[in-house]
Amino acid sequence: MQKYYKIVTFGCQMNVHESEKIAGTLESLGYRETKDEKDADVVVFNTCCVRGSAEQKALGNIGALKPIKKQKKDMIIAVCGCMTQEAKMAEYVYKTFPFVNIVFGTHNSYRFKEYLLEVLEKKKRVFKVVDDEQKLPIEVESFRTSGHNAWVNIMYGCNNFCTYCIVPFVRGREKSRPMEEIVAECKKLVEEGYKEITLLGQNVNSYGNTFKNGKNNFAELLKEIDNLEGEFVLKFLTSHPKDLSEEVVKVIAESKHISHMIHLPVQCGSDKILKLMNRNYTVEHYLKTIDMIKSYIPDVNLSTDIIVGFPGETEEDFESTLELIKKVRYNTLFGFIYSKRTGTPAEKMENQVPMTIKKERVNKLLALQREIEKEKFQEFLGKTIKVLMIDRKHDKVFGKTDCGINVIINGVEEFKVDFVNVKINDIKNTKLIGEIVDE
Ligand code: 5AD
Ligand code: SF4
Repeated sequence: MQKYYKIVTFGCQMNVHESEKIAGTLESLGYRETKDEKDADVVVFNTCCVRGSAEQKALGNIGALKPIKKQKKDMIIAVCGCMTQEAKMAEYVYKTFPFVNIVFGTHNSYRFKEYLLEVLEKKKRVFKVVDDEQKLPIEVESFRTSGHNAWVNIMYGCNNFCTYCIVPFVRGREKSRPMEEIVAECKKLVEEGYKEITLLGQNVNSYGNTFKNGKNNFAELLKEIDNLEGEFVLKFLTSHPKDLSEEVVKVIAESKHISHMIHLPVQCGSDKILKLMNRNYTVEHYLKTIDMIKSYIPDVNLSTDIIVGFPGETEEDFESTLELIKKVRYNTLFGFIYSKRTGTPAEKMENQVPMTIKKERVNKLLALQREIEKEKFQEFLGKTIKVLMIDRKHDKVFGKTDCGINVIINGVEEFKVDFVNVKINDIKNTKLIGEIVDE
């Protein structure tokens, strides 16, 4: 009889891709995906712990499965990811939810198959949270679920220890995959027809730093992938402002395939707070980097992350953040309310900001960004841009620019996932609207 699985993913793209690897394992064992957990024989929760809200959501979702599992005793429930890499949280999940069969973390997630088979054979609960932070994980075949886009890990872990961030504690130290292996994976993906490849790493700019030969940096990796034959867009996430080099920016500017979209999280516009955050750059340095990028890539599409309400953030500090945003004029901005994470240095810092103020600030921040976005969208009117068609619903075709802006394309006669030139003639909220033109 056909067996089914469902994976519930929280958090970032790294997790989305890790879930594709878990799906790969389940598919190889003959399971197929279902959208409804009531039909599932295996349910996996791939969790996030970057903010408290993500943890609460995951815990709520796991708890909600209890009555279903009561009806379906053979159902196997696994909880993994960043939240259960933290020993205390993993134990909490194991104790609080006795109906959960498997608990494991990020360092050993590639061993999921073993754990699943152990539960199936021995009918015992499995608890495997290990600290293997130096080791490069073994790559597991993915069952890709992101349509035209393929995620590719280039490195794991982070050495930066920003004082608010839990990631270095749950993802371990930085380790890079060998360049030949990454290039070979990308080549295969392009040959298979993927039109977009997104390289993933917590800090892609320090790719290769751990290699002993001192060779193979991020710029070289980008160049190698850019040299591959075929029509595709190459993207990458995430860059750290202290490490993004002029060399990398030049490679992007001169490339055939690399998207002009750069995600460069600034987090805050006050030097005092940046120091407390241990970000290792100043506002001046950040703005110089932005100028350097704009000089090589005038049509760059910049995005950023901002944390409001970091301990000690005064009204004046917050105003500096707004000033910085007005100067840079990002295309996209992700605004977060600071969330205290156990074990991070910021947890113990004085002058924690009250929630009411944090909410006020994030609302103000997002309102400013909406204004900027509206103005920036006007710049597209009348322009012809390259768009990747990705989906069709009724008579509407949905696409994306190289920089990730959503486009509705009217009057498409023949739809297939492919690149077309679109003349933009209208704007609706955060979408551009246009028609295909020959060019
Ligand atoms: N609270 C709020 N936001 C956080 N981020 C990381 N840690 C925290 C935290 N403790 C944000 C940062 C990072 C993004 C992925 O999540 O802005 O760039
Ligand atoms: Fe967290 Fe900073 Fe590392 Fe990003 S660079 S994952 S914010 S510690």
